[in-house]
Amino acid sequence: MIDLRSDTLTQPTEAMLDAMRSARLGDDSRDGDPTVGELESLAATRTGKEAAVFVPSGTMGNLLAMMAHTGRGGEVLLEESSHILKHEMGAIAQIAGLFHRQIHGRRGAMDLAVLADAINAQIKPNKLATALICLETTHNGAGGTILPLDHMAAVHALGREHGIPVHTDGARLFNAAVALSVPAAQIARHTDSVTFCISKGLSAPIGSLLCGSAAFINRARAFRRMLGGNLRQAGMLAAAGIVALEQMVDRLAEDHRTAKQLADGLHKISSRLTDPGMIETNIVRVDVSVSGWNAEEWSVALQTRGIRVAPGGPRQLRFVTHRHISAADIETTLTAFRELWRQAPGERVTRAG
Ligand SMILES: Cc1ncc(COP(=O)(O)O)c(C=O)c1O
Repeated sequence: MIDLRSDTLTQPTEAMLDAMRSARLGDDSRDGDPTVGELESLAATRTGKEAAVFVPSGTMGNLLAMMAHTGRGGEVLLEESSHILKHEMGAIAQIAGLFHRQIHGRRGAMDLAVLADAINAQIKPNKLATALICLETTHNGAGGTILPLDHMAAVHALGREHGIPVHTDGARLFNAAVALSVPAAQIARHTDSVTFCISKGLSAPIGSLLCGSAAFINRARAFRRMLGGNLRQAGMLAAAGIVALEQMVDRLAEDHRTAKQLADGLHKISSRLTDPGMIETNIVRVDVSVSGWNAEEWSVALQTRGIRVAPGGPRQLRFVTHRHISAADIETTLTAFRELWRQAPGERVTRAG
């Protein structure tokens, strides 16, 4: 199978397995686990923040950030198709007790004028106070797009002007850093806190890091315990994370190349499927409506050819490249797609949904 559903499918490397076997362990929630401590220091250094906390998932990292930055009842402003809103099960309201307002965005970047208008620095008799602004880079829903650094700087400045913190969901922060050819810290300087995942393109089996000021991370640690995310001999997992940060960052450029190769090939099949000029990292969103088959039908048809993709909506397929996808796999995928394209009924008989 050529599995293009997600970069979370990556398996740990041999170096990770060796590091896991020989990791020094302790009880992270009692006297500390030395390997977890090492990973947290490395994460803080790489993002240019004072401190970091190891968490089981990106979702928990984002939730802890929302809880540690705010008090219950505040309003969070975030882009309308952000992962926090679309895929984190309403934790923003159900657990953090926050209201949210979604801001219209283009390629994952919120409209700055709309964002500025939405800010309400102080609670009023008829208006909640803005408690937090959230960003996402790379932006999953927008197709792996990178927030321009001047956009992040403008949002951060807006937040500072009103005393409102900014959190960035950087699940794929290192994809953004590699694509921009900058250290991750150069992106993270435009946000008060950032979450990044080691379990996606970086190939570690489990985990994310939430990074920010020392005081903020202390609050986040308390909420982590409250949510049941307390870790014990987690050095085994952290050891893989250290290898991820030390050995797996630069190779993300290969995933960006295979994503571009895929988008170029699909564009040759039909220019309406995808725009290769829009591919910035490792996610390719493909609009299949012109084919007459919906996303589910494409995903079933591709699976019969040994290719797995995730529908990203009724008419959209999402391809994610990663360490186990080679240039040859992309050629195989394109050959299969081309053959199926000839069998698909075409635009005239497009079925709904
Ligand atoms: C942008 C973004 N944020 C957060 C997450 C959540 O990460 P996790 O699956 O580790 O909870 C994901 C997962 O795909 C993501 O793409």
